[in-house]
Amino acid sequence: MILPIVAYGDPVLKKKAVDVEPGYEGLQALIADMFETMYRAHGVGLAAPQVGKSIRLFIVDAAPFAEGEDGDPSCRDFKRVFINPVLFDEEGEEWAFEEGCLSIPGIREEVSRKPTLKIEYYDENWELIEEELDGFPARIVQHEYDHIEGVLFLDRISAFRRTLLRGKLSDISAGIADAEYKMKFPKKK
Ligand code: NI
Repeated sequence: MILPIVAYGDPVLKKKAVDVEPGYEGLQALIADMFETMYRAHGVGLAAPQVGKSIRLFIVDAAPFAEGEDGDPSCRDFKRVFINPVLFDEEGEEWAFEEGCLSIPGIREEVSRKPTLKIEYYDENWELIEEELDGFPARIVQHEYDHIEGVLFLDRISAFRRTLLRGKLSDISAGIADAEYKMKFPKKK
């Protein structure tokens, strides 16, 4: 089932999400719905708060970044479910990349992040996994991890850039956005 993606301005996007309990009802169905929703929207990552659930869960599938001449082969099999992840040891010299977000359609901004990290998490079968990531997989995970901390990529750009975007952002909250997928707008009349 395709779920509506919550748009910028909804308080759920600014909230620090809580751990998923092992007996969380409907978890497998939620994960399946999130994949369906993400693929429909042509995203490479989706966090539970973006579908209105303030829990520490996000999914990624970086396959689109593996395509084309300058594709990154490490993205081909980077499809994961992250439950209650803990991100640590972010290291290296920050690099800039233009990020976008399904909750903020039509806006892309350069965000600087460190290139490598480690992450410990439970997968969809509640197996505890530790992984070391770099490149695009690390970048996607950092963006999604921010979502469960109540942080958006806009919080990582300059105040000046944010001011320039103010009008566009209030339009998005009000439902003036051209997204080709189902969304829920906090201030739509
Ligand atoms: Ni996002």
